[in-house]
Amino acid sequence: MTPDCDRKTSLVENSLSSQQTVELQNAAQAAPIQALFDRIAPIYDQLNDWLSLGQHRIWKQMAVKWSNCQPGDTCLDLCCGSGDLAQRLARQVGPTGRVVGADFSKAQLAIAQQRLEASSCPAIIDWVEADALNLPFSDAQFDAATMGYGLRNVTDIPRSLKELHRVLKPKAKAAILDFHRPANQDFQAFQAWYLNTIVVPLAEQFGLREEYAYLSPSLEKFPIGSEQMYLARQAGFSEATHYPIAGGTMGVLVVTKGSD
Ligand SMILES: C[S@@+](CC[C@H](N)C(=O)[O-])C[C@H]1O[C@@H](n2cnc3c(N)ncnc32)[C@H](O)[C@@H]1O
Repeated sequence: MTPDCDRKTSLVENSLSSQQTVELQNAAQAAPIQALFDRIAPIYDQLNDWLSLGQHRIWKQMAVKWSNCQPGDTCLDLCCGSGDLAQRLARQVGPTGRVVGADFSKAQLAIAQQRLEASSCPAIIDWVEADALNLPFSDAQFDAATMGYGLRNVTDIPRSLKELHRVLKPKAKAAILDFHRPANQDFQAFQAWYLNTIVVPLAEQFGLREEYAYLSPSLEKFPIGSEQMYLARQAGFSEATHYPIAGGTMGVLVVTKGSD
């Protein structure tokens, strides 16, 4: 790049507001994450089943219960991936309800639609390509929400919690399921062993070593339960409780929007 180009670049940067600069940085960080989830989409469900020995189904059902979604409700599944949590919400809201599954990976949403067509899901599910940091929904639209293994992957956790808070109706709840670093040293050691010795080598069989090697570092950076509760209150939620599950190797953050 010539010095002249450098000057133009810095002029452009100087003319951006700090908000725009943050958005550009988020977009640059999000691009490889989006590409990663596009790549792993074809085998994501199968690997999830193997790696959790089917337990992720139970944890997702717990998240649906804690979201307090009811028959007839309009619910959001944020970072829906291939849509199994969205389908669980749909079974809970029934034929009079509606579910929106939102994700920024086109490939994951295409699989979510294929899975929906092959199922006997009772409620309407709309798949929306959307960024969790900038949701294309109006304020106070949803009665309940879930987010499965998405919070750890967004590039700006406080902002995604604020967006979630904005789109929920007053008194609505959201249940956010993700990995968690256990406080107990033995469980911590087990988790590290499991990720490095079982998960990464298994993913390697599918040519996806690098894609799954990201799990350990992403978990290192991910706030623990008490920090998640603090961030949720900062984002505006009136209540926030983190429930450790699976020996603290997973957790569900349950948040409630205030009544005003
Ligand atoms: C680990 S997968 C979880 C998928 C599904 N919820 C589940 O529980 O199996 C994380 C998902 O979050 C999505 N994601 C990550 N960052 C996002 C963002 N900023 N906006 C929308 N989706 C995002 C990815 O595309 C991916 O599908």
